[in-house]
Amino acid sequence: MGYKTREWRGSMRVTLDYNNMTEAALGDKGFSDKKLRSYAAKAKEAFDYVKENRGKDELYMGWTELPYNQDEIVADILATAKTVRKKFECFVVLGIGGSALGPIMAFNALCHLHYNDLPKYKRKGPKFYVEDNVDPVRMRDLLDVIDPTKTCFNVISKSGATSETMTQYLIILDLLQKAGVSVKDNVIFTTDAKKGNLKKISDELGGIKSYVLPDGVGGRFSQLCPVGLLPAAVLGIDIKGLLAGAAYMDGLCKTPTIGKNPALACAVLQIAAMEEGKNVGVMMPYSDNLKFLADWYCQLWAESLGKNVRLDGTPCNVGQTPVKSLGVTDQHSQVQLYTEGPYDKVVTFLSLKKYGCEMPIPHGCENIPDVAFLGGHTMEELIQAENAATAYALTKAGRLNYTLWIPELNAFTLGQLLFLFELQTAYAGAMLNIDTFNQPGVEEGKKATFALLGKAGYEEKKKELDQKGEKNEKYIV
Ligand code: PA5
Repeated sequence: MGYKTREWRGSMRVTLDYNNMTEAALGDKGFSDKKLRSYAAKAKEAFDYVKENRGKDELYMGWTELPYNQDEIVADILATAKTVRKKFECFVVLGIGGSALGPIMAFNALCHLHYNDLPKYKRKGPKFYVEDNVDPVRMRDLLDVIDPTKTCFNVISKSGATSETMTQYLIILDLLQKAGVSVKDNVIFTTDAKKGNLKKISDELGGIKSYVLPDGVGGRFSQLCPVGLLPAAVLGIDIKGLLAGAAYMDGLCKTPTIGKNPALACAVLQIAAMEEGKNVGVMMPYSDNLKFLADWYCQLWAESLGKNVRLDGTPCNVGQTPVKSLGVTDQHSQVQLYTEGPYDKVVTFLSLKKYGCEMPIPHGCENIPDVAFLGGHTMEELIQAENAATAYALTKAGRLNYTLWIPELNAFTLGQLLFLFELQTAYAGAMLNIDTFNQPGVEEGKKATFALLGKAGYEEKKKELDQKGEKNEKYIV
């Protein structure tokens, strides 16, 4: 890939168009220049906070340096990926949340949409699966299509204490042992360097090949470390291109001027929208390849900003509900609501300038004008027209929307998007004055699960659950 030349990088720059957020496009439903300018001081403070704390592990800001500090790790990952691609029929990620959504997203974004169905000579690498649930049916069905002895399992867990991932690991461990296969041959861990159970397991088993999920990198910010890079490299994705794209976007976000820093501009637009009661953030890629980028973004935005306390200890209930919507598919299901329902949403379009495949629409049905007009166009023209038409319809209806334009989808532009969203989230969290990088709200459910399954130390929690769990028949119909 030509990301080494300045000209090529410039031609691949992801740009933000927020015309449809403004008063000029939306009248009194849009933001005036004066209103946007009123965020300048707050935006500068957020920018300074992120800048000052870059790379600080204790604040979980290590992700900011991932585009720059992984040369050796990347070389190691590429060597391992080469072996895995040759040796195994399948590659299975066992992980959940931040340890799964990144690999799923990159797979879907940069591989053939029917990758696993391609013949081996076209795929060139192993079949790929990410198991991020403990639905027993899903595990059974996976085991129906893979041969564990010919599969490389990448167990990804920072803590090594996540019930879902460790359950999957126990099942695989048992299968490998029963098949007489050494765990060392078929398993790779991605985990914390020192803490955590996977480290202990690796030591007990005499050293499983392990990659480090760095201390200062939380799950949802981990796609650009070995969590995402190893699976991507196994798939043949250009991981150096991903990192170069992230670094390029970082370079575009070096100023506190809202109109010149795309990530800061997105954060300000979203915060301004939230302050006006736009509690729903719709992420709408017009690309099947980017469908799971929307999922990845939903976790990043929801887990980072959904908080009930500010950094100064004062209570709050902030955040915006992210919703995934796929263009054009969801034009036929959700767009009616977005156009005419409550004024509580802001829509982010992810729009491709080039799909890398035009797919001409042949002529035919010449006597049926409703169909004939399509002939002679391409599917690329059609999807782009529908994207423009939806943005127009939303704007006409006074609905806030903006577009991130992607020249074409490749590792470099995907890296830009990832870093833009991560920075946007960090800026937005700083503007809300919350801890963007923790997730205490997930803990209660985890503890209740431990209690229900009889984990030692959770006896009191079990009693609490038994008392609270009593059901009143009156409310069961
Ligand atoms: O973003 C996060 O921090 C979470 O989604 C975690 O990635 C998820 O809970 C899995 O945790 P672990 O990596 O410890 O297994």
